[in-house]
Amino acid sequence: MAIVPTAPERTRNRDSDHPYRFDSYFHYLTGFGEPEAVVVLIGGESPRQILFCRDKDEEREIWDGYRLGFKAAREALGFDQTFAIGELDTQMPLLLANQAALHFPAGADPAWDTRVFAWLNQVRAQARTGVSAPTQLIDIRALLDSMRLIKDEHELTLMRRAAHISADAQVRAMRATRPGCMEYEIEAELLHEFRRRGSQSPAYTSIVAGGANACVLHYRENNALLKEGDLLLIDAACELDGYAADITRTFPVNGRFSPAQRDIYTLVLDAQHAAIAAVQPGRGFNDPHEAAVAVLAQGLIDLGLCHGSLDTVIESASYRQFYMHRTGHWLGMDVHDVGEYRESGQWRALSEGMVLTVEPGLYIRPAANVPEAYWNIGVRIEDDVAVCAGGCEILTSGVPKQPEEIEALMSECRAAAS
Ligand code: GLY
Ligand code: MN
Ligand code: MN
Repeated sequence: MAIVPTAPERTRNRDSDHPYRFDSYFHYLTGFGEPEAVVVLIGGESPRQILFCRDKDEEREIWDGYRLGFKAAREALGFDQTFAIGELDTQMPLLLANQAALHFPAGADPAWDTRVFAWLNQVRAQARTGVSAPTQLIDIRALLDSMRLIKDEHELTLMRRAAHISADAQVRAMRATRPGCMEYEIEAELLHEFRRRGSQSPAYTSIVAGGANACVLHYRENNALLKEGDLLLIDAACELDGYAADITRTFPVNGRFSPAQRDIYTLVLDAQHAAIAAVQPGRGFNDPHEAAVAVLAQGLIDLGLCHGSLDTVIESASYRQFYMHRTGHWLGMDVHDVGEYRESGQWRALSEGMVLTVEPGLYIRPAANVPEAYWNIGVRIEDDVAVCAGGCEILTSGVPKQPEEIEALMSECRAAAS
């Protein structure tokens, strides 16, 4: 038997809540987005799918909006049985009786742990009547993670759509950027496009980082002036119906790369191309990272930013002064999605239906060993790719990344504006 609760509502301040976001595991199993709900799956000889959720409540619906209600939920969502959420503590000890194993996200939320252990103790207390409690407690997340790692056609369709909206938002941001704008004005362009296309929210806090701010990996103030001669790094994408995109583009605020910016940008782009070429079924998860590091390390040597042979720079990891993160992660319902990266100690083999990001970058902070021309240049280029037969599908190709394409797009906007 499996029990998976959805996420609680969270207070933002006083009596205002954060916008509600369901738990990804719960939504994966049910497609149901209301708070205060628990799914129970019973296997064995007479399998049943049970949902506990809020009942209709006219008073609350006047204030807070529509509730499906447990009676309508049965047919609408295809459950065998549904109960009002208020029945949970009464029903769970009955449902748990004589089950061999309980699969549950143990440790994810101490309040649920306490509640589940209390139900188990109620079942154990009936031992003398011949009822047995589950003897195995299994963390259900391992199983769900391996299911979620492989996206089916329905999920890929949603992810393509989230990626398209996000790509169009990045193009909109590129078009709107001018010296003298504030970072938050460009963030607003992104949010406008996400929302007008039906996305529920950004998939993560948007990073709109001009100039030196691009060298702060998780920069999120987004409140600085965009200056002539600086680059702008935007890491922003939307969530659509529970699925995330994750895109980064870096481009010149004035529409033209300087020679030093172009050196660094082209190197990151070459590294990204090499990494994407390594995304193929059967290759290891780490192959794209190794491909990116090889290109970046050689380029850093060629630019005089790293010293020694390629092997020395890679083995000593001296390139990490400029490239300190990894080249990608699984992408899905969560932006840093679930799924093991290794299996039996080996990097996991890529296979069809896996979706990952490819996001090399270089971040050059002022330092004595770095020519001043490169100071404060931060570049990341991030695309989302789905592993498919023979290679991968780039979900986020709708936003330009060749320097000439970016310059052409930006000069077109300037011509139109003048
Ligand atoms: N936006 C978070 C990341 O790129 O991993
Ligand atoms: Mn990102
Ligand atoms: Mn990412």
